[in-house]
Amino acid sequence: MLVSGAGSNLAALLAATADPTYGATVVAVGSDRDGIAALEHARAADAPTFVCRTADYADRAAWDEALTEVVGAFEPDLVVLAGFMKLNGPAFLSRFGGRCVNTHPALSPSFPGMHGPREALAYGVKVSGCTLFLVDAGVDTGPIIAQAAVEVLDDDDEASLHERIKAVERVLLVDSVGRMARQGWSVNGRKVTIP
Ligand code: GAR
Repeated sequence: MLVSGAGSNLAALLAATADPTYGATVVAVGSDRDGIAALEHARAADAPTFVCRTADYADRAAWDEALTEVVGAFEPDLVVLAGFMKLNGPAFLSRFGGRCVNTHPALSPSFPGMHGPREALAYGVKVSGCTLFLVDAGVDTGPIIAQAAVEVLDDDDEASLHERIKAVERVLLVDSVGRMARQGWSVNGRKVTIP
């Protein structure tokens, strides 16, 4: 898994993988930054961790190659991005494309990017949610695996809306990743099916 922040989605997935019938384990947790709660969650669960910072490389391409190598060394079947706040580059996508999932706190194709809940509120939508998708070269544009909706309340601010989204997001992530691990998945054009 790759993370950059609080790690609530990671924590939910780690908890699920404690059950052997879940069908997947977390082979490693990586981040683009130190000192985040997500890495603490990983260490508490005895998952191997690594940090791969863009600032330690000459340019994005070199960072992309390095991240690809370090992730590849763990031989993951699936790469899960959960609050990973960097765009993966061509080296990463050529190795893990089609088996790299990301979760976004908005109903795609609306409000891609870093500020889904803020932009949904500013637009005045009455329903928002989260989107689990297969990562492609765009920003939150890949084929959609699953979505869940939440109501937007009149007195919501960015934090309250994002928290309501995160409550359904971690359930969706745990459910979908488990089903992908146990049952596989297929992609036909933009349509993803978990049998
Ligand atoms: C999640 O809501 C995730 O969708 C979002 O960051 C949060 C991470 O929470 N990701 C993005 O906005 C990426 N565009 P967490 O660190 O508590 O799992």
